[in-house]
Amino acid sequence: MRDLLAALSELRERLKEIPQADERRLQDLKTEVLGRKAGALTELLTTLPQLEPASRKAVGAAANALKREFEAAFEARERELKRAPDRAAGLDLTMPGRAQWRGGLHLVTQVVDEICEIFRELGFTRAVGPEIETERYNFYALNFPRDHPALDAQDSFYLGEDLLLRTHTSPVQIRTLERYPPPIRVVIPGLVYRRDPFDASHSPVFEQLEGLAVDEGITFVDFKATLAAFARRFFTADTRVRFRPSFFPFTEPSAEMDVQCQICGGAGAGCPTCKQTGWMEILGSGMVHPAVLENCGVDSDRYTGFAWGMGPERIAMSRHGIPDIRLFFESDVRFLAQFAGGVR
Ligand code: DAH
Repeated sequence: MRDLLAALSELRERLKEIPQADERRLQDLKTEVLGRKAGALTELLTTLPQLEPASRKAVGAAANALKREFEAAFEARERELKRAPDRAAGLDLTMPGRAQWRGGLHLVTQVVDEICEIFRELGFTRAVGPEIETERYNFYALNFPRDHPALDAQDSFYLGEDLLLRTHTSPVQIRTLERYPPPIRVVIPGLVYRRDPFDASHSPVFEQLEGLAVDEGITFVDFKATLAAFARRFFTADTRVRFRPSFFPFTEPSAEMDVQCQICGGAGAGCPTCKQTGWMEILGSGMVHPAVLENCGVDSDRYTGFAWGMGPERIAMSRHGIPDIRLFFESDVRFLAQFAGGVR
C-alpha cells in the first residue's frame, strides 16, 4: 500500500508537464498515464482488487481523484491548443518581428538629390530630358563643329543615322531654352552614354548633373559665387575651390572647378584619391556661348548665363574615398548598404 501511494505521488509530478506540452507530447503523455493498455494510472487501478478492503478504499479514492485531475488537465490543455495552435507549437505570432533592412537609395541617387536640394535653395528647379537624342540637340545646337570627334561612332553610341544615346546632359539646356523664356535656373540630372572602357575610372554609362542659369545681367561673378557656394554647402564650409581655364564648345569663357581633396584635406602628399595634387576636379563650366542662346532663339545681347556639368559618381567617390567607379554598377549590397542605413 505504501508503494502504491508513493507511485501515485510520483505520478502526480507528471501533471506539471501538461501545461508545457505541445500537441504531440500531450498525446504521448496521455497514453503514458491514462492509456487503456499500458497507462501507468490504468495499471495501478487494475491492482486495486488485490488489496485488503481497508486500504483498497483509501488508495482507490486517491487514484480516482488523481485520474480526474489528469483528465481535467489534459482537457484544459487540449482546449488551449485548439485556441492558439501556433503559440503552443513554440511559435508566438504576437512577438514583434526582427527588423530587416528593406533596401535604400543608391549612393549616387542620394548625392544627386542632395545636390539638387542645395541648388533648389539657390532658386534652381529640376528638369529632365530624353536619353535618346538627335545630333542637333546633343551637338550642333550646343555649337559643336561638324568635325568634332565626339560625333564619331567610335566615341558615341549611335542608334541610327541621326539618333544616338546622349553623351552628356547638355542637350537638355537646349530643350529648356527652346521651351521657356528667361529667367531660367535649372539643374538637370540624368544618365549619359559614351563608348568608354569599363575600368576603375570609366564606365560606358554614368550620371551627370547639368546646371543652367540665363537671365539679364548674369556675370562671371554670379557664376563663380554660385558654384563656390555649392561646394561649401556640399563639402565643408571651409572647402577651398579653384577655377582653371578650359574649353567647351558651348561656353566662353570655360572653366573647370576643383575642390580641395576631401580625403587628404588638400595636403596631397601620399594621397591616391587626388593623385597627390591636393585637388579634385568636380565640374566643367563656363558662361553660356552667345551662339547657343541664338540657336535657341534667345537674344544674346540682352541675356547672358552660366552653365556647368558635373559627375555625381566622381563627387561621391571623392567624398567617400571610393576607389573604383564599377562599384556603383555591381549592385553588391555589401557596398551599397554602407551608404543606405543598412546592415548586412
Ligand atoms: N557637357 C560637358 C561634358 O560632358 C560638361 C559640361 C561642361 C557641361 C561645361 C556644361 C558646361 O554645361 O558649361 O563633359
